[in-house]
Amino acid sequence: MRVVFVGPPASGKGTQAKRVCAQWKIPQISTGDMLRAAKAAGKLPAELVERMAAGALVPDATVIDLIDQRTRGSDCSPGFLLDGFPRTVPQAEALDAMLRARSVALDHVVALEVPRSMLIERAVLRRTDKRTGQIYHLKYSPPPPGADLEHRPDDREDVVQKRLATYEAMTAELLPYYEALHILRRIEGVGSVDEVSNRIFAALGAAR
Ligand code: AP5
Repeated sequence: MRVVFVGPPASGKGTQAKRVCAQWKIPQISTGDMLRAAKAAGKLPAELVERMAAGALVPDATVIDLIDQRTRGSDCSPGFLLDGFPRTVPQAEALDAMLRARSVALDHVVALEVPRSMLIERAVLRRTDKRTGQIYHLKYSPPPPGADLEHRPDDREDVVQKRLATYEAMTAELLPYYEALHILRRIEGVGSVDEVSNRIFAALGAAR
C-alpha cells in the first residue's frame, strides 16, 4: 500500500502513521523527521535550518530529492507511508511522475482534519523521546518516567501560528488535487488516538 498523510501541524500524522505502518508493515517516511535528522547531523544548510525554525517550508526541490532517494530503498517494495509529503501541488506532481516512472501509484491520501483551536495545544505540549522517537503529549498521552524528552524548537506557540498559516496558504490546493484523483480520504482527527485510528483503518479497508 502506498499512502500519503496530509494535515496541519500537530494534527496527529506522526502518531497515526506509526500505527498504520505497524499494521501494513510498511516504512513511515517523514520529511520533517528526515530534515531534523540532517540538522542533528550538521548536514542541513543554515538557510534551511532558519526556514524550519521560522515555520516556513523548505524548497520543493530539497524534499522531492529526499523522497526520490528514500523511496528507492528495498524496504519500500511492499509500499510506504509518506508523512508530511507532499505539501504543495508541485511536490504532488513530482511524486506522481516519480511513481509513474516506476509503474506504481498512490492508493490513498489521508487528510486529517482538526480545528485550529486544538492544534496549538497539541503542538505546544508535544514532547518526543529522543531515543525511541515515540511521540507524547503532556496532557493527553503523558511520557513514562525516565523518557529522554525533546521539545521541538518549532513547537513554540508563535512558530506554530506561522506553521498553521503556511499550511493553510501552501497546502490548500493539495486537497482538491487529490480529490480529483478520487483517492482523498478525509478523516476527523478529533477524539482519542484509538478513535482516530479506527476511522483511518476503516477508510483504508482493514478491520482492527
Ligand atoms: P513536520 O515534522 O512534518 O511537521 P508538521 O507537518 O507541522 O507536523 P507535526 O510533526 O507538527 O505534527 P503531526 O501531525 O505529526 O502530529 P503528532 O502526531 O506529532 O515538518 C516540520 C517542518 O519541516 C515544516 O515546518 C517544514 O519547515 C519542513 N518540511 C517538512 N516536510 C516538508 C515538505 N514536504 N515540504 C517543505 N517543507 C517541509 O501529534 C501532535 C501532538 O498531538 C502530540 O503531542 C500527540 O501526542 C498529540 N495527539 C495526537 N493525536 C491526538 C489525539 N487524537 N488527541 C489528543 N492528542 C493527540
